[in-house]
Amino acid sequence: MKTLAILTAAGAVLFAISASAQPSVPVEPALVANTCSQCHGDRGLSIAPLFPDLAAQDKDYLVAQLKNFRDHKRSDQHAQAYMWGMAGDLTDDTIDAIATYFSSLPPPPRTSGLDPAEVAAGKAIFENGVSADNVPACKACHGDSAAGSATIPRLAGQHREYLATQLLAFRSKQRYNDIMSANVAQMTDEQIRDVSSYLASLASPSAATEPSKADGK
Ligand code: HEC
Ligand code: HEC
Repeated sequence: MKTLAILTAAGAVLFAISASAQPSVPVEPALVANTCSQCHGDRGLSIAPLFPDLAAQDKDYLVAQLKNFRDHKRSDQHAQAYMWGMAGDLTDDTIDAIATYFSSLPPPPRTSGLDPAEVAAGKAIFENGVSADNVPACKACHGDSAAGSATIPRLAGQHREYLATQLLAFRSKQRYNDIMSANVAQMTDEQIRDVSSYLASLASPSAATEPSKADGK
């Protein structure tokens, strides 16, 4: 036992030294390593296209969504099936630590191999909206490079299947949000597909040199 105590103390000192050497990288919370990573990956790059990448997502947005899952305010089918249970017992402090961790990671790589016609049509929607269908320019809120800010999410490099599923859920109001449900109320399935392909194709500035992920079509 004595040896164990000494080893533990030595470990704590080493840990303190290495943590102080890299103050800008928060330690991965144990819950993320043990549980969340099974779907969202250790580094916030998820393992399947219906599971969102969380890496570099805006911190305030992550906090808001985890509270929405916990309080059953985000109630689309996948939110209920996958995230209500996961977020049910999280305290505000744990939510803050998780959001700090994921928001500090490098952003997801772009998706390659997407249909160029879809990407081009989606770019036009993102930049100009579709006034005939009352669809606003997405970049007005999500930013020129779709990096988001505060409670407006980053969309650049996100999985296209996840994006399209969310837009359909906002449209059907299964995932209800005043702003987004109104924005997409008159979007067609085709427009949703195109804008999702465009967003998936975007490289975030600091991810530009990283390898792309394969098209998940
Ligand atoms: C079994 C797989 C699974 C596990 C484990 C899991 N998630 Fe999720 N998570 C999902 C799915 C699926 C969604 C998308 C829900 C939807 O479509 O509304 C999601 C969505 C999210 C979102 C919303 C992201 C966004 O862009 O809106 C956050 C934040 C999140 N999860 C955090 C966590 C955290 C933190 C944990 C661990 C406590 C966790 N997840 C564990 C599957 C999982
Ligand atoms: C007036 C501001 C505004 C505009 C314009 C806007 N959005 Fe959003 N968007 C938001 C906000 C705020 C949220 C967070 C909603 C929530 O909390 O559930 C959001 C969420 C989203 C999400 C969910 C992302 C995730 O990780 O789950 C997607 C996808 C999205 N927007 C796509 C779009 C697209 C595509 C357009 C253009 C057709 C668009 N948005 C236009 C404000 C806006």
